[in-house]
Amino acid sequence: MRLVPADEGALDRILDESHDLWSDSLSRAAYAKYNRAQTRTPWGAHHLRRFTLLDDNGTVLSSAKRYDFRARLDGRDVGVVGVGAVFTPARQRGQGHARGIVEQIIAAAAAEGAELALLFSEIDPAYYAAMGFVPTVRQELLVRTKDTRGAPMILVRAGEERDIPAVTDLARAMAERHRFALVPSEDTIRFSLSKKRLLAGFLPPGALSVEFFIVEEGAGAVAFAILTATCEDVILEMCGDRDPTGARVGALLQVLRARTPADPSLSLACFLPPGWCPPQVEIESRHVVREVMMTRPLNGADPGLPLRDDDVLYWHGDLF
Ligand SMILES: CC(C)(COP(=O)(O)OP(=O)(O)OC[C@H]1O[C@@H](n2cnc3c(N)ncnc32)[C@H](O)[C@@H]1OP(=O)(O)O)[C@@H](O)C(=O)NCCC(=O)NCCS
Repeated sequence: MRLVPADEGALDRILDESHDLWSDSLSRAAYAKYNRAQTRTPWGAHHLRRFTLLDDNGTVLSSAKRYDFRARLDGRDVGVVGVGAVFTPARQRGQGHARGIVEQIIAAAAAEGAELALLFSEIDPAYYAAMGFVPTVRQELLVRTKDTRGAPMILVRAGEERDIPAVTDLARAMAERHRFALVPSEDTIRFSLSKKRLLAGFLPPGALSVEFFIVEEGAGAVAFAILTATCEDVILEMCGDRDPTGARVGALLQVLRARTPADPSLSLACFLPPGWCPPQVEIESRHVVREVMMTRPLNGADPGLPLRDDDVLYWHGDLF
C-alpha cells in the first residue's frame, strides 16, 4: 500500500462518490472546481494536499486531505497536521483503509516535525479515539447585539487587501491569549476569505454571501469581522479587536444591525474566544457541536490532553 498525492483521475472518482455527502449544495462540476481552486490559492498550494492510499494495482483504497497548520499550544509555536475529508470508496470499506491513511498521513507529518494531529469527526468519535485521538467537547454560541437605537459613531467599511496585515495582527493577538489556537498568517486569512468567496461564487447567486468589515481608526484597521450569510443563518466566521473587551467588534456588529432597522435582530452562530464577549453582544443560547474536535499528540509531545473547550480558540473560519 502506498500513500501518494491524489492524481486527477483519482480525485474525480473521490469527488463523484463524496459529492452527495460534502457538496454544500454545489453541482458536481462546481464541487470539483471548488475543491481544485482551494489548492491553487497561495496558502492552499503549499498547505493543503489530498492524498490517496493505493494498492499495488493502483486502486484507490482510501483518501483524505492533509492540512499543515501552525498553532500556539501552551505558549509555543508548533506544527499541526489537520486531517480532513477521510473517505473510503464504498466497495473498499471495513478493511482498515481509513485507519491506514490517517496513520500514514500523521506519520509523514510527524517525521516533518508536527507535534499535534487535529481532525473534526463527523462520525462516532469512538472510531478516532481508538487511534489515540482525544475529543474536545465544544459549544457553539448563538449571539446577537443588544437592542439600541441607531448605530454608534465609528467608521466601518469593507475590508480590502491592504487591510490584511493589520487584520492578521489583530487575529494573532487574539490567538496568543489561549492554550490552543491556530496561528493566523496573512495567507491563512486570505485563504479563509477566498474559500468562502469561492463557495459563494460557485453557488447560485444570492445563496451565500461573504462579508468582511473593518473598524478604521487613524490609518488602519483596529477591529474586523468576517461573516457568512445564507437564508437560514448568519455565521460570525472570525473577528478580532485591538480593544481587549471587544467593544469595537461589538460596535461593528451594531452598525451592521442598524442597516436593517425594520427587520428583527438576527442571531449569529459563532465560537467566541473563551471568556471574551463584546459588551454590546448577548449570548442567546449555546449547544454542543456535532462535529467533534479531536487531537492527538505526536513526536512524544505531552500537551496534557484533553484540551477543554475554554482552552481553545477555534473559529468557524478555521474549520476544515
Ligand atoms: C468512515 C469511513 C472513512 C471509514 O472507512 P473504512 O476504510 O471502512 O474504515 P476502517 O476500515 O478503518 O474502519 C471501519 C470501521 O469504521 C467505523 N465506521 C465506519 N463508518 C462509521 C460511522 N458512520 N460512524 C462510526 N463509525 C464508523 C466502524 O467501526 C467500522 O467498523 P466495521 O467495519 O466493523 O463496522 C468510510 O465509511 C467513509 O468513507 N464514510 C463516508 C465519509 C465519512 O463519513 N468520513 C468520515 C469523516 S470524519
